[in-house]
Amino acid sequence: MKVRTHRCGELTKAAVGQTVVLNGWVQRRRDHGVVMFIDLRDRTGLTQVVFNAERNASVHQASHALRSECVVSVTGQVMARPEESKNPNLPTGEIEIFVDAVEILNESKTPPFVIEDDAEVTESIRLKYRYLDLRRPKMQRLLSLRHNIMQAVRGFLNAERFLEVETPILTKSTPEGARDYLVPSRVNPGQFYALPQSPQLFKQVLMVSGVDRYYQIARCFRDEDLRNDRQPEFTQIDLEMSFVDRLDVMSLMEQMIVTVFRDAGGVQLPTPFPRMTYAEAMGRYGSDKPDLRFDMPLHDVTAFAAGSEFKVFKEAATKGGIVKALIVKGGAATPRSRIDALGEMAKSFGAKGLAWLKITAEGQLESVIAKFLDAKAFSAALPDAKPGDLVLFGADKAAIVHDVLGRIRLLLGEELKLIDTAAWKPLWVVEFPLLDYSPEEKRYIFMHNPFAAPMDEDVAFLDSEPLKVRAKAYDMVLNGSEIGGGSIRNHRSDIQFRILDLLGINKEQAQAKFGFLLDALDYGAPPHGGIAFGLDRLIMLLGETDSIRDVIAFPKTQRAQCPLTDAPSSVSAEQLKELRIKLDLVE
Ligand code: AMO
Ligand code: AMP
Repeated sequence: MKVRTHRCGELTKAAVGQTVVLNGWVQRRRDHGVVMFIDLRDRTGLTQVVFNAERNASVHQASHALRSECVVSVTGQVMARPEESKNPNLPTGEIEIFVDAVEILNESKTPPFVIEDDAEVTESIRLKYRYLDLRRPKMQRLLSLRHNIMQAVRGFLNAERFLEVETPILTKSTPEGARDYLVPSRVNPGQFYALPQSPQLFKQVLMVSGVDRYYQIARCFRDEDLRNDRQPEFTQIDLEMSFVDRLDVMSLMEQMIVTVFRDAGGVQLPTPFPRMTYAEAMGRYGSDKPDLRFDMPLHDVTAFAAGSEFKVFKEAATKGGIVKALIVKGGAATPRSRIDALGEMAKSFGAKGLAWLKITAEGQLESVIAKFLDAKAFSAALPDAKPGDLVLFGADKAAIVHDVLGRIRLLLGEELKLIDTAAWKPLWVVEFPLLDYSPEEKRYIFMHNPFAAPMDEDVAFLDSEPLKVRAKAYDMVLNGSEIGGGSIRNHRSDIQFRILDLLGINKEQAQAKFGFLLDALDYGAPPHGGIAFGLDRLIMLLGETDSIRDVIAFPKTQRAQCPLTDAPSSVSAEQLKELRIKLDLVE
């Protein structure tokens, strides 16, 4: 085989006249009779190679055997393309190679789809033939971006004296709140390892070990329902630091993300990142990961609603709920059918309805509920609502109103193209509640993870009003996506035990689940805290793709399957016997 002198994406006018060898795949063949054009492709791009019967009859003859995706080595001379056939969209568009020798290194079957970015092909076929799918320029670009981000992260953290430490994959369950993937132990029949949902417990132990600053590009496993930004197996940029408080972690992490976006993505993020409390984010945007690329805030009209004659409003406002409004600027022309569809959407999100009113050009309220409302009081309560606007209302418990209107806000932002898609809007969301109350389970549950420390000024409420306690937790949000989250931890076991107790985990259960961490805290654990970023989500944002499956070389489908390898699959009776496992499948 003639070994390449150059890659397919790199020859320019400067090389005209040189004899070169290129190795690659046949992207496309165009037969113009006496000349055959072939686009030759490798990871770096395409080069047009020309087989001219008048220059070399035998290679021209041989070119007829070249099919899509066959692998070739061509030797030829770099020529400047005539002015009219230059391709300004291609980095190699000013040249072409006149071929003097060609060697077929391997044939290819006809691929099930064309290797092009906009090829029409279902995702299951793409994933089954992932090796072909990954040949597409977009996928090559995303693989490179992933690599570049990881290198930029490592470079930054190495310079900040972090130590990269690997933690076990076969381990004990980590309490991140999802279901565990279990692995049976052959040598310990009846016992199981859990795959880590994150390295949380180990990284805290490493702080007790004096590692001081730890990081890992860590694989995490969570058996949860999959979405476009969730995989059962995903990667975190995971880190932990000793002798720090919230602001130390947040300011270093802000620098890291700014550096990574600049170096790996050529994006300058606006700094400093604004900080918003959880209460503010929920109240104003109905979300703990607000998309700040457009405004459209939620307005509190509870006081107005309490004084209105509309029963739904009055009841919500006077019986412990709230009433909030979203203003759709210029939305008064929205057809009734569309408003009804939004109402159905709100119901599917858990609301009882989505009341609405239009403000006419004359400033009148137009709505089935208008007769129950005092127009003057309304405009005093919601001065931002102007003639020509549509106003949507949610009336219910605060959690429902925020969630539903938050989702309607996002939906309208997209639909009405209010989102500035060129903008980058990072922020920190801070002061999360430590606990939430689950009415179904009738107990407190943790908001972040059970190891987050309470804010100093709130410790006093741990016994009296636990829901009032805020945690030293922080999430980094970018364009409405939660890209990372972390906290300062409880480094003293007494406070940790009190919190576990509130969560309904007694000492015995705690000992069984993660006794090793609790024990370790008693041997001189330094104050510590950390964070983990969703690497895949960072790549999605920088790579401008909305499927997490595009940024992972070998992802799982929505049903947690891998069409390439056919995992998961049944195993032999012998394997099960060895593990002492008997299947008892019930439909
Ligand atoms: P958390 O559970 O918030 O924190 O996870 C951190 C970040 O990981 C990403 N992420 C995911 N990405 C893809 N698929 C998933 N299924 C998935 N789940 C989470 C998100 C999220 O912000 N141990 C703590 C971190 C800490 O406290 O230091 C943890 O795992 O971007
Ligand atoms: P109804 O009185 O049930 O006919 O409802 C009148 C309007 O109020 C309809 O547009 C409903 O969608 C809306 N609505 C009903 N319940 C709620 C609620 N809890 N929050 C907001 N709007 C509601």
